[in-house]
Amino acid sequence: MSRIIAACNQKGGVGKTTTCVNTSAALAAMEKKVLLVDMDPQANATQGLGFSPQDFEEDLYDILTQAEGDVTKAQVRHFVKPTSMPFLEVLPCSRSLAGLEVQLITQPLREKRLMRVLEAVRDDYDFIFIDSPPSLSMLTLNVLTAADTVMIPIQCEYYALQGLAELLNTIRLVQQNLNPKLSIEGALLTMYDSRLNLSKQVAEDVQNTFSEKVFKTIIPRSVKLSEAPSFGQPIILYDALSSGAMRYMELAKEIILND
Ligand SMILES: Nc1ncnc2c1ncn2[C@@H]1O[C@H](COP(=O)(O)OP(=O)(O)OP(=O)(O)O)[C@@H](O)[C@H]1O
Ligand SMILES: [Mg+2]
Repeated sequence: MSRIIAACNQKGGVGKTTTCVNTSAALAAMEKKVLLVDMDPQANATQGLGFSPQDFEEDLYDILTQAEGDVTKAQVRHFVKPTSMPFLEVLPCSRSLAGLEVQLITQPLREKRLMRVLEAVRDDYDFIFIDSPPSLSMLTLNVLTAADTVMIPIQCEYYALQGLAELLNTIRLVQQNLNPKLSIEGALLTMYDSRLNLSKQVAEDVQNTFSEKVFKTIIPRSVKLSEAPSFGQPIILYDALSSGAMRYMELAKEIILND
């Protein structure tokens, strides 16, 4: 049975996309069949895997607009693209996804579009990762409704915990109204710098907030991790021996054990 994991945090630049791309690639390197779904109109995950949002005539936007009616596996597979890793596929997006936000407001099943799309293909995969935008918008509601679990990347910086109460409240509302099976996979500390007291302080605060729901793996601040997207490669292809690559492999193992 596959697991659908969403990376969510309405704070921008905390490592959602970096985590989705690199955890997906690490699991694919372990021969787990993975689909990465790009639900952020910035299309950073699409680009991080080496595509340009203009590469595709149709993308996630088109299948989500079609998902008002029944969605078949063949329909969705038409939009899924192979990547340079044999076990990793992507459902790419482009800026047009931003328009869906407004379009969906008056439409039926507006929070359930992505769920319907992913239900049609989930038995093809071991893991489906969903990258989400830095907002608590209709797109994010779709993400939380489609997911089994949420991982919450938290950047080890000042203000890291600001806004988390709002995110946790949104997760609770989705559990009550749209997706009762939704649970928290874990909080993930990102861009950790062991030389900084601030990083240690944030780690302690996160531990206090999430108790056992914090990943043991901590992602360090690493130049290699920030360079890899400009080569359109996950870190495991860009520099497999870097600390970032090794930590994302560790994280992937932790996620497998969470099952
Ligand atoms: N561990 C890390 N070490 C160094 N740089 C990192 C690390 N993780 C992410 N970055 C860099 O920080 C920036 C923000 O990361 P990322 O795009 O993953 O965040 P995000 O939460 O997806 O942002 P957004 O909210 O805009 O979607 C990027 O330039 C990325 O390359
Ligand atoms: Mg992002």
